[in-house]
Formats: sequence, C-alpha cells, structure tokens
Amino acid sequence: MAGMDLGFDGHVCVVTGASRGIGLATARLLAADGARVLLVGRDEERIAEAARTVGGDGLAADVTDPGAAQAIVERAEALGGLYALVNNAGTSFARPLEELTDADWQGQWELHVMGPMRLMRAAAPAMAARGEGRIVNVCSSAGKRPSLTNAAYSVTKAAQLSLSRVFADAHAAEGVLVNAVAPGAVATALWTGEGGLADQAAAAKGISREEALEAQAAKIPVGRLADEEEIAAVVAFLCSPRASAVAGAAWSADGGTVPSIV
Ligand SMILES: NC(=O)c1ccc[n+]([C@@H]2O[C@H](COP(=O)([O-])OP(=O)(O)OC[C@H]3O[C@@H](n4cnc5c(N)ncnc54)[C@H](OP(=O)(O)O)[C@@H]3O)[C@@H](O)[C@H]2O)c1
Repeated sequence: MAGMDLGFDGHVCVVTGASRGIGLATARLLAADGARVLLVGRDEERIAEAARTVGGDGLAADVTDPGAAQAIVERAEALGGLYALVNNAGTSFARPLEELTDADWQGQWELHVMGPMRLMRAAAPAMAARGEGRIVNVCSSAGKRPSLTNAAYSVTKAAQLSLSRVFADAHAAEGVLVNAVAPGAVATALWTGEGGLADQAAAAKGISREEALEAQAAKIPVGRLADEEEIAAVVAFLCSPRASAVAGAAWSADGGTVPSIV
C-alpha cells in the first residue's frame, strides 16, 4: 500500500460550523487532501470568507432551522453527490445548573441533536443508494462523562453520541459509516476567544484568564489543550475512504481526559 493518501479524489464533503475553529481546520484539511468542500455557518460574510480561504463553496445556514438540512444536502448533491457529512456546529457557555433556563436547554438540544439528526436523515438515503458515505459527528468528552460547567451541553453531547451510534447501526450495512469524535478542551475561540470559556471560568472563580487556562490544562493528561488541527486530523481520517472499517465508534481526541477503555 502507498502512503497515507486519504483518497478523497474530488469527493464532496459538507462541514457545518466551518467559519472558524475545528470546522474551519477540518474544511481546510479536507480541501488540501483533494475533497470538494461545502462550508456551512450562520454568518454570510464569515462563511464566504472561510470558503474563499479554503478554496471551497460556502453556504449560509443555521442548522437549527428545520429547513436547513434539506437545503444543505440539496446543494451538496448538486455539487456532485454528497460523500461525507461533518456535523460540527456547536457551542457552549459556563452556567451553573440552577441558572440554566428552559431556553438554554432547548437551544443546546436543537443545536447538538436536532440539527445533526435532520442532516443525517436528509443525507443518508442518497449515500445509501450509492452504497458509500461517511458521517462524522463532532461530540465532546463532556458527553462521555458529565460536566457541570454547562449541564445542558453535557447532556445534549451525550445524546449526540447516542444519536451517532443509532445512525451508525441503521446505515452501516449500506456502506454509510457513521462515527463520532469526542474532543476534550480545544484552544479555539470557544475556549480562548474574548468572553470564551476561559474568561467565563476566570470570572466565576475570581482568578485570571491565564490561571483558568492553566487549571484546565492541568486536568488533561497530556498537560495542554489540543489545537483545532489535531481534532481536524481525526475527523478528516474518519471522513475518508481509508476509514473503511470504522463504524459506530466514538473516538476520544481529548489528550487522555476521559479514563475509559471503550
Ligand atoms: N473547543 C472545544 O474545547 C471543544 C471541545 C469539545 C467539543 N467541541 C465541539 O466542537 C465543535 C466546534 O467547536 P469550536 O471550538 O470549533 O467552536 P467555535 O470556534 O465557536 O466555532 C463554532 C462554529 O460553528 C458555527 N455555528 C454555531 N452555531 C451554528 C448554527 N446554529 N448553525 C450553523 N453554524 C453554527 C460558527 O459560525 P457562525 O457563528 O457564523 O454560525 C462557527 O463557525 C462544537 O460542536 C463543539 O461542541 C469543542
């Protein structure tokens, strides 16, 4: 076998939440490996700029909009047939359990469960008809073991892991391989940006932002946060024709954070 060419060869890949962070790094890596990438994000200008820098196509859509999935899949099919879908759009915030509102819970559910569910439901039939496809759900270590930073995040990411396995079981026999990736803390805008989780943790604990980041790094066996390229590498492999024997997995990419053997 030759080297590790992922074998995308012009295959169409959709990445949601692709205007920055893990999604943008994934889109960049997929494009560099020869995929035709459709980048999705809510802000029209940001997604157009991201698509331009990556050399892909951009589509402004909010994945929590019930009509978004159909529009995204139709666009990808028109580009030549959707090969891989990456459900990456997601977010969190630090809020104590007793302060989480119904709207907080519902918003996290729509973003982490209903959005990815509708996209998989829209994408899988055409993939199955072609007998090949890949779906990767970007979940979280917080879905593998409960976290009180944002219980609504933790619970909906656990649901997203289950959702991923359900679609894996439903479609594996048709050649549509569905897997999840569970990152731990990653140094994207979500953590390190202005007002991000580091600033929120600092404010809650009365410490500096640097101390908050040091405390987070100290909880991770490798001793540091991951960067987005490290997560993108795992996602890109699972999206690729090379990942042909992986289905229903939930790969941790968390520097050893969750101490489990399955
Ligand atoms: N960073 C971490 O520590 C970490 C750890 C574990 C898991 N994750 C997961 O990894 C994924 C990406 O996180 P990240 O750190 O890269 O986040 P990020 O830097 O905040 O980027 C989030 C991306 O999602 C887009 N987005 C947000 N809501 C959307 C919606 N409703 N519809 C479409 N696009 C939407 C944003 O663009 P617009 O605002 O323009 O829509 C942006 O491109 C998330 O699912 C997150 O839960 C992250």
